[in-house]
Amino acid sequence: MAVILGLESSCDETAAALVTGDRRILAHKLAGQEERHRPYGGVVPEIAARAHAEKMTPLVEAVFAEAGCSLSDVDAIAATAGPGLIGGVMVGLVTGKALSLASGKPLIAVNHLEGHALSPRLVDENLDFPYLLLLVSGGHCQILRVNGVGRYERLATTIDDAAGEAFDKTAKLLGLGFPGGPAVEKAARDGDSAAVPLPRPLAGSKEPHFSFAGLKSAVLRASDSGNYSAQDIAASFQQAVVDCLRDRLEFALKNTERLPALVVAGGVAANGAVRAMLEEVAAARDMRFVAPPLWLCTDNAAMIGWAGAERFALGMTDPLDIAARPRWPLDETAAPARGAGVKA
Ligand code: KG4
Ligand code: ZN
Repeated sequence: MAVILGLESSCDETAAALVTGDRRILAHKLAGQEERHRPYGGVVPEIAARAHAEKMTPLVEAVFAEAGCSLSDVDAIAATAGPGLIGGVMVGLVTGKALSLASGKPLIAVNHLEGHALSPRLVDENLDFPYLLLLVSGGHCQILRVNGVGRYERLATTIDDAAGEAFDKTAKLLGLGFPGGPAVEKAARDGDSAAVPLPRPLAGSKEPHFSFAGLKSAVLRASDSGNYSAQDIAASFQQAVVDCLRDRLEFALKNTERLPALVVAGGVAANGAVRAMLEEVAAARDMRFVAPPLWLCTDNAAMIGWAGAERFALGMTDPLDIAARPRWPLDETAAPARGAGVKA
């Protein structure tokens, strides 16, 4: 069975993993950089790229040591080639190219979003194509029909902020710390989700897309008013995001042919309230609900190795002169959403 080395460095997690074509994770390692970015309240691209350059090679050595094998036992090297912070992407991709050149094993340039999109298939061998995917991360918020490896139909995207970005900005505003998603979820546990009146942008809209920028401004106003606790704002904000996700998902479900499974992926899929809502939506429509375990939702290299394994099985490898891409939509044919010049 094919063994794939996966490398991830598109944002603020440096990661390496060894994954097999029959869904075994032989080893996976991850080095976060939260401490280095915390003073700035967000990811600083230059700091991220330098940290990836420090950590990537030791992590590769560590996964080989853990799995008790070496580069010669690998069948292909899969590295994230975008989208993401370009300095970081280049560290992982160039490492992948160097290992490919040294070993003579093929390189597979993986779209980070495809890593998220296929990750549920790593843990669920019964999840067949096509499926409906809600991809909710720090940089993206999309609904996709996943027809096969490399075959994605985008049904909706955000016209401004991504859902994870809204969590991160809310956390910063409320002084809850970094990274924002888990901090907001934690604060929300002690708050009242009905305490603060917040909008549900684009809910009920006849266009399929998401919007979260208005929500962020409303959170800022609520915070400035001094009338609410940070816990109540966090809980009300989280509920508003859940409501927006549900509304847009139901719109997509109503407007597409019925699919057997509803799947969620990306960092925001680690949120308990989001998962509970999705489970409910799926159950109401008699769809199977598939969500990767929490560690596989946020950025990691096992999902990149798995996307590599899926591609390798189909003979999809890439030349060594392939470029790193800061932007790389999964569905290159999708029309840009209104105002979404940068995030589509
Ligand atoms: O997929 P991911 O690790 O990186 C990107 O590709 O963007 O997603 C990171 C995003 C961040 O915005 C983070 O705040 C959010 O996922 N996130 C969460 C939770 N855990 C991570 N958002 C809400 N609740 C969580 N528990
Ligand atoms: Zn991601």
